[in-house]
Amino acid sequence: MKESAPASGPGPTERGDPSDLLRSTAELAVTFLRALPDRPVRVDHDVEGLRRSLLRPLPEDGEDPIRVIEDLARGADPGIVSMAGPRYFGFVIGGSLPAAVAADWLTSTWDQNAGLYAGGPAAAVVEEAVGAWLIDLFGLPPSSSYGLTTGCQMANFTCLAAARHAVLERAGWDVESKGLFDAPQVHVVVGAEMHSTVGAALQYLGMGRDRVHSVPTDEQGRMRLEPLETTLAEIPASVPLIVCLQAGNVNTGSFDPIDGAIRAIRRHAGAWVHVDGAFGIWAAVSPALRHLVAGIGGADSWATDAHKWLNVPYDSGLAFVAHPTAHDAALSPPHGAYLEYSPTQERDEVHWVPEFSRRARGFAVYAALRSLGRSGVQAMVERCCEIATVMAGRLAADPRVEILNEVVLNQVLVRFIPAAGANGQDADQLTRAVIRRVQEDGVLWLSGTTWHGMAAMRISVSNWSTTMTDAERSAEAILSARDAVTA
Ligand SMILES: Cc1ncc(COP(=O)(O)O)c(C=O)c1O
Repeated sequence: MKESAPASGPGPTERGDPSDLLRSTAELAVTFLRALPDRPVRVDHDVEGLRRSLLRPLPEDGEDPIRVIEDLARGADPGIVSMAGPRYFGFVIGGSLPAAVAADWLTSTWDQNAGLYAGGPAAAVVEEAVGAWLIDLFGLPPSSSYGLTTGCQMANFTCLAAARHAVLERAGWDVESKGLFDAPQVHVVVGAEMHSTVGAALQYLGMGRDRVHSVPTDEQGRMRLEPLETTLAEIPASVPLIVCLQAGNVNTGSFDPIDGAIRAIRRHAGAWVHVDGAFGIWAAVSPALRHLVAGIGGADSWATDAHKWLNVPYDSGLAFVAHPTAHDAALSPPHGAYLEYSPTQERDEVHWVPEFSRRARGFAVYAALRSLGRSGVQAMVERCCEIATVMAGRLAADPRVEILNEVVLNQVLVRFIPAAGANGQDADQLTRAVIRRVQEDGVLWLSGTTWHGMAAMRISVSNWSTTMTDAERSAEAILSARDAVTA
């Protein structure tokens, strides 16, 4: 047989020493992180420029990895948003604590498949640590089970899968084996301001995102208790029932009246209470904020994120369930004969998340929690809330600025009022124009929303590295942007 010519680049079996590559990559990362606080917080790229840099025919022969990485970093740079930086106030976005970034590097280096204990014993045990720490921090029932998901979307999915299992099991139906065909009807109650990912989870689970009882909310977006009680009274006592509450409205940061709602729901024997606490559940770590989540431990499941307020790199969500048997039954995949399951003492992660092969997400969460400690988590959450309050105060001192929400947490909704006699520009137009101008100026980044029919600017303070100086500078930049568009 004729021998083929050797490929010019390093072939798959040439192991080589990765130290130069990893050291030069670490330098690139450090250079980026050092510049991050001063990098414009705006997206300067045009897509064609990015395509010119990054799109190319797949090379026939392998290229030198150091060159590949340097070229990637250079080509991607104009399209890298300073999302991890201190003046990114868009959506609800955390940065990355240094220890979490470092642990995330090791996670890639170790490359564990954290689906089974056999695939990564340390990954499984680290999940045990973070599960126990977070259950304690949030004040959840100590025997709760937990799963580390990609984000709160999949945490909501995980929790609602456990809920669906439990309420149908009580009705004598095995949903995992029989599906929903001919199943008893499940009633789902949500607040009118539920996050879209709760709707998406219901959609994925075949429970219908629009087939819900929607309970009206108040001016802050909190579920109203009286209509909740009316809605519950209209649902027959014996039917399968799931109620979704919210801790932290994505616009206002407001909380459903969790304690009162749970007490009302508990009159329905067998009802399941789920709490979407993507960022709001973190109020539980602060004695000053804990009242916002009073009674939360009485729910049946809780979804949250580590990539938001714990400042762990994407992707990192967390699901907790008060009933481990329902959680396990709902999420465990059918048995695979080739897999090495653990005896009961060890944690096989596939039982708790809608994934099979998966990243060992626990390492970064573990490093974040240990590097902060209990007091550090509390201080980070409280600092973000204080900064949100200061920014709201600075803006509200201007007579042509209105703060639309009670700033109870880390979210601020801002609206700009045109000067008397301004020609034709209404508050909606002005608010949208100011948001655009702020985004273009690049001192900070934030996004807009529509709140109860009004255009509003959203400020979300969720980054570990944001300082009071950033807050002052950002409030000034927002007012200057307003002056610029009204000049
Ligand atoms: C209340 C709430 N629930 C769920 C989510 C979805 O979280 P993720 O983007 O991590 O899936 C968000 C995101 O902002 C949220 O604010």
